[in-house]
Amino acid sequence: CGIVGYVGPRAATPLLIEGLKRLEYRGYDSAGVAVMNGKGVETRKAAGKISRLESALSSAPVHGTLGIAHTRWATHGPPTERNAHPHVDEHHQVAVVHNGIIENAPALRTLLEKTGHTFSSETDTEVLVHLIESAYDGNLEDAVIEALHLVDGTYGIAVMHGKEPNKIVAARKGSPLLVGLGDGEYFVASDVSAILAHTRDVVYLEDGEMAVVTRDGYRICDLNARPVDRQVSRIDWDLDQIERGGFAHFMLKEIFEQPQTLENTMRGRLILEEGFTKLGGLNLTKEELLAIDSVVITACGTSWHSALIGEMMIEELCRIPVEVEYASEYRYKNPIVTPNTLVIVISQSGETADTLAAMREAKRRGARTLGLVNVVGSTIAREDDGGIYLHAGPEIGVASTKAFTSQVVALALFTLKLARLRNLSVEQGRRIAQALAELPAQVQSIIERADEIEALAEQFKSAHNFLYLGRGYNFPTALEGALKLKEISYIHAEGYPAAEMKHGPIALIDDLMPVVVVAPHDAVFDKVTSNIQEVKARKGRVIAITTREEPALKGQLDYEFRIPETVDMLTPILASIPLQLLAYYIAVKRGCNVDQPRNLAKSVTVE
Ligand code: G6P
Repeated sequence: CGIVGYVGPRAATPLLIEGLKRLEYRGYDSAGVAVMNGKGVETRKAAGKISRLESALSSAPVHGTLGIAHTRWATHGPPTERNAHPHVDEHHQVAVVHNGIIENAPALRTLLEKTGHTFSSETDTEVLVHLIESAYDGNLEDAVIEALHLVDGTYGIAVMHGKEPNKIVAARKGSPLLVGLGDGEYFVASDVSAILAHTRDVVYLEDGEMAVVTRDGYRICDLNARPVDRQVSRIDWDLDQIERGGFAHFMLKEIFEQPQTLENTMRGRLILEEGFTKLGGLNLTKEELLAIDSVVITACGTSWHSALIGEMMIEELCRIPVEVEYASEYRYKNPIVTPNTLVIVISQSGETADTLAAMREAKRRGARTLGLVNVVGSTIAREDDGGIYLHAGPEIGVASTKAFTSQVVALALFTLKLARLRNLSVEQGRRIAQALAELPAQVQSIIERADEIEALAEQFKSAHNFLYLGRGYNFPTALEGALKLKEISYIHAEGYPAAEMKHGPIALIDDLMPVVVVAPHDAVFDKVTSNIQEVKARKGRVIAITTREEPALKGQLDYEFRIPETVDMLTPILASIPLQLLAYYIAVKRGCNVDQPRNLAKSVTVE
């Protein structure tokens, strides 16, 4: 999501639109502007791309020299014009744009409705509008402070009020915001790329801080109205670099984002003490959940790999038979569906044509469908019977990384809930919940060692083939590791169950063949150790992902990368991070276009 605001001598609307366009790369599904028109605030909004908002503005222009604007990537409520920001009160006095999530919005909304406020959208943001409206007593910053003291969650906001037509108030907690200092004009923005065409001097707000910006200047204070001194930063980066957050590619940025994206997938859903999870979007009663007697998981590409991990989790912990099907196959195979079949559909984009068709086929046959989707309001998310949004944020790199790990976490959350309703003990549930909660920090500890993987990539960048092996939960990890490498580096790579290798691929092994073995200390570790010896006996070059020192592996490994320990079912998440990095660095060293590999599309909307 993106925020832009302007105050100065120029017409605000074109500047706001230009800023929004700069933020489109962050994902968008609707956009809007609010401009001060002399009497109050006037808004224009549109669902879809910024160009839709532009056409709305050209048929009904708004004029003013102060305004705020937003491009939304939905987290709550479908991406409609109604849910687009800015949100305003019924008297067109308060306008708010917001990035982040207000976690106690449902409770606040009930309270506000009781005291006579009428809501016009389904967003969590709108509670801020009404809170500010009721707190307003002639001074906008005071009203914003009062409102923010009542909300839990994260926000970057920009607010204006019809009674103070010369002022924007901005605040942040957990969602970035900055003030841009122009020549006789000021900007606020969530991302410097929105305003870089006009100024390179910015002041970054810290969490818990607020900026009051007028045509004559700006000041920064904390949420107790105490002034804060913040330095002006000079931006040296160019636009391209900024959009990628300073990373060389979106893919690298997205790999590095995973501690946060995993946190976001779990936010508000884990109940540690009970070893249980809260999944508001399932749309299934406890009785319906308990009645499920078979599960089908269908997906394509990387999402199909997370499905394979989900299969193992659900079978192991819930003791329900699970089938994983390529969506393109499932849709044409006369599948067996009973009223107690749950069909889980996994898709980052929510638009993959085969996955959508598979879901429609399952529904037609009477199955209950559950969508694990990243893009809120996408077709699959709209048509499924219930869902678990991934909340991983827009994924721009064509090769999926952060969406994959969030899918595995979402599957774990679902499994935990169902297993606990069936027969998993509280202690076992707690152990898994605790392991989930520890994941973000563990992932962080891995990405901090990215340079080790980069050095490894240097050694293997010229290979012509790669073999990836794993067993149990990490057979899908091997498949995904191989897919990442072939997608972006064009090196032929194959993923195989480690033991099955001796029935064919072993013929390919010689001293030129790198073999990546995913070998954490899980239930099948000893078995994988034997497979490593089989590779070594044919002089293959073994790159192992392990969790601890192991005498049996002494002298068997050409390269070892250790990941932290976790419960077996979550090892694929930690093991995937070094494999993503390996694929990335090899591709970069081979001069490939990692963000847009040849022949591939981010979302395949044809059969
Ligand atoms: C395309 C992408 C893959 C993705 C697959 C499924 O092939 O290149 O990265 O895994 O589609 O996409 P979905 O959006 O349904 O997860």
